[in-house]
Amino acid sequence: MSNFAVEFVPLLIDKHFYFSNARDAALSAGYNRHQHLSSEESRTAGPLIMYFKQLLNERCGCASYVIASRKTLEAAIVDPGIETEAYEALLRERGFRLLYVIDTHIHADHVSGARRLAAQFGSELCLYESAQVAYPFRPLSDRQELELGQLRLRVLHTPGHRPELISILIVNPPRSPEASMVLTGDSLLVGDVGRPDFGGGDVAAQYDSVTNLLRLPDWVAVFPGHFEGPCGKGMCGRPSTTIGFERLYNPLARLDRREFINRVGKGVPPRPLNMTAIEATNRGRADIAWAMMTTSPEVPEVNLDELRSRPADAALIDVREPEEFASGHVPGAVNLPQADLASRLDEVPRDRAVMVICQGGFRSLRAAQFLKQRGYSDVASVKGGTEAWRKAGGEMSVKCDADKSASAQQPAIVETEWTHAGGDCYSI
Ligand SMILES: [Fe+2]
Repeated sequence: MSNFAVEFVPLLIDKHFYFSNARDAALSAGYNRHQHLSSEESRTAGPLIMYFKQLLNERCGCASYVIASRKTLEAAIVDPGIETEAYEALLRERGFRLLYVIDTHIHADHVSGARRLAAQFGSELCLYESAQVAYPFRPLSDRQELELGQLRLRVLHTPGHRPELISILIVNPPRSPEASMVLTGDSLLVGDVGRPDFGGGDVAAQYDSVTNLLRLPDWVAVFPGHFEGPCGKGMCGRPSTTIGFERLYNPLARLDRREFINRVGKGVPPRPLNMTAIEATNRGRADIAWAMMTTSPEVPEVNLDELRSRPADAALIDVREPEEFASGHVPGAVNLPQADLASRLDEVPRDRAVMVICQGGFRSLRAAQFLKQRGYSDVASVKGGTEAWRKAGGEMSVKCDADKSASAQQPAIVETEWTHAGGDCYSI
């Protein structure tokens, strides 16, 4: 163990953060796990095992989880996507009874399948008590425990990415009084933390939440809500990690509060594709589930010559954020940020060729694929994007005279190197 860990761990471990009561805390002192198993528990240890499965969605970079007691066959699903067939099949095959469907927060990058599953299986739909949604749910509070057979799902309120975000500690008391796993939603990610810049996010709260999570014991396995995608900017790609590893090697873990706020708050990725429609749908204020990318259609990529010689009536849609667009864009381009594409789809003409452009070509490819999914037949993505245009000496327009001063500043948007969502690997 490094000097850092030796000095850091005793100072920061706060047992009350993860032990539900004084008895658990007392048991943890001088802990010997064999002494905690009663003879009865030892005899029945086989049936007391748990089931745990992580499901990864390559298209949106999201992770969801199925947790069950093999003793009672009671199950919970955390952060399910809208394509619920895989969960349904798993529940059927295993004979599990779905008690709880939990969203760790209101998602902005994918449509949740929580309401669909809860309705289908008669399960409780669970969210943190402060969640602002237009449908009924079971409100969860900090430190509350949900029983799942012999398992306990312990709620930790870990705001920052979203104000209502929770993490969930998984405890299997017959095996150990201590948690062995934590589902962190978009608080602590592998090599990163969740972005705090939308939906009431708060970078200072994120610091506090991540600091608290890092007080858990080294051995606790971390299962995040994302392994890649637009909710962070430096995820390493692994779908899980441990508290000990992140405490030592997460580049944000050793920063003090001020450094953390500066680093995490500065330079955020663009808002996710169709975020406006997806978030409204997940809050129950709209029904735009079709905003979710569920296919990976082939879309042509055009080069700069083809961009220059495009038909006179072709629409050129720039899907970057407004500040990026204001700082310089290809003449004739119209700004429609990817976050608003589904909610403003009627602004994209269906009777003419459509070319989509962004900074480097990745966002535009995803946006063009989405348009194709929605039935646009003559749609293409500009390879290399505005950056390639600028490097080739192309003329740049700014949004208007009033924006020229803003254009002198570098936009605070950073491109991520997330490349798996529905296309070939693509250099930004
Ligand atoms: Fe999120």
